[in-house]
Amino acid sequence: MNLAIIGSGYVGLVTGTCFAEVGHNVICVDNDAKKVEMLHQGKIPIYEPGLEELIKKNVASGRLSFTTSIKDGIDKSLVIFIAVPTPPQPDGSVDLSYIEAVAREIAGALPKDYRIIVDKSTVPVKTGDKVAQTIKRYNKKASFDVVSNPEFLREGSAVADLMKPDRIVVGSDTQRALDAMKEIYKPFNAPILETDLNSAELIKHASNSFLALKISYINALTIICEASGADVEKVAQGMGADHRIGRAFLNAGIGYGGSCFPKDLSAFIKISDDLGYDFQLLKQVEVINREQRERFIKKIRESLWVLRDKKIGVLGLAFKGNTDDVRSSVAIALVEQMIKEGAHIKAYDPKGSEKAAPLIPKAQIVSSAEAVAEGADAIVVATEWTDFKTLDWNKIKEKMNSPLLFDGRNLLDPVKMKELGFDYYSIGR
Ligand code: UDX
Repeated sequence: MNLAIIGSGYVGLVTGTCFAEVGHNVICVDNDAKKVEMLHQGKIPIYEPGLEELIKKNVASGRLSFTTSIKDGIDKSLVIFIAVPTPPQPDGSVDLSYIEAVAREIAGALPKDYRIIVDKSTVPVKTGDKVAQTIKRYNKKASFDVVSNPEFLREGSAVADLMKPDRIVVGSDTQRALDAMKEIYKPFNAPILETDLNSAELIKHASNSFLALKISYINALTIICEASGADVEKVAQGMGADHRIGRAFLNAGIGYGGSCFPKDLSAFIKISDDLGYDFQLLKQVEVINREQRERFIKKIRESLWVLRDKKIGVLGLAFKGNTDDVRSSVAIALVEQMIKEGAHIKAYDPKGSEKAAPLIPKAQIVSSAEAVAEGADAIVVATEWTDFKTLDWNKIKEKMNSPLLFDGRNLLDPVKMKELGFDYYSIGR
């Protein structure tokens, strides 16, 4: 099928590439001419495992192309996906101005024959209705349907998540549009859930909030574990073995970050509020998440006594492993707080250093874990990169001024670290 994707960010670019990979003809549209030029030259603006090879392969096969012209994309495609940012506003609500602007542009470019407009961006329930109203307002003759098709990909495993999804959600109020969506997703061989427009939109916020809730639940348990001498890893294992609960997203640590959970949670709280429900449970999820990092800093402070003039090495700046994304990263928040308290920070991230540097100008960014350790009074593991598990920790210890190790992601084995001579602290065990 001929598809257009408007917005070539994380979601748009990966979605478009995977659609091309399964055999569709895809035009990715972006209004950032520099980005489109980069993509034409085979340069990929984000780090995502497997993406670069797939883009090159599908561009070469002629199934994937890039343009700055929405009109071009719409002319040639039956289905037009909207994958533009929906950033948060200061009050937590979602800024829908990009969606609204794209809806108007689509209205101006729609031909007379039928088109399907699919929203892939994370949006508040009822946005699809607004998109439809807007298009109708600016193009009285247009023949189209609106579909909600939320995206559940995770950064760092986006290609794999897209190619092998647990489920595909498509919501629309017409069968014609739903049938076309099923056709697009047929090659993915995944269960497809058909719903009405509003339910599909709600599923995205409800899912992300529930995953964040799982993380905050296990993080709250870390407090009980520390107070009682239990081990949160064992507790998570025991809980997770019940298939009704599941082990995923029960990894305790310094809390969730990234461009989705924090924003989606506050958006969902605001959406609920607007619909007349005070979602206290989710407010508490946010409180637990914030307090988790504060408790971790307190642990560091208790050991080092004062942070002023201490040399602290930080391993990890990205908001999680396998990504270069540092948006709303808890690691960055930790670094900022320690700098505020007068510590000297040396930090290393396998992929995120470049994007992190402008956010933490007072930190020294170095190019290896060994360099982080050089003369350090303590090391903090702030991101769950598996690379950190396999470091030569003996060598790291020898380079340090004192062998204090704070593992904010429970990445390392406490027994081993103690055997190596580290004064090792982790979370909830
Ligand atoms: C999330 C959703 O998982 C995805 O379905 C949605 O499309 C976008 O938002 P993403 O933000 O890429 O994906 O990352 P995810 O792997 O969900 O991790 C989010 C944050 O939670 C990270 O900061 C991670 O470190 C943290 N996390 C995750 C935990 O602290 N513990 C866990 O058990 C899992």
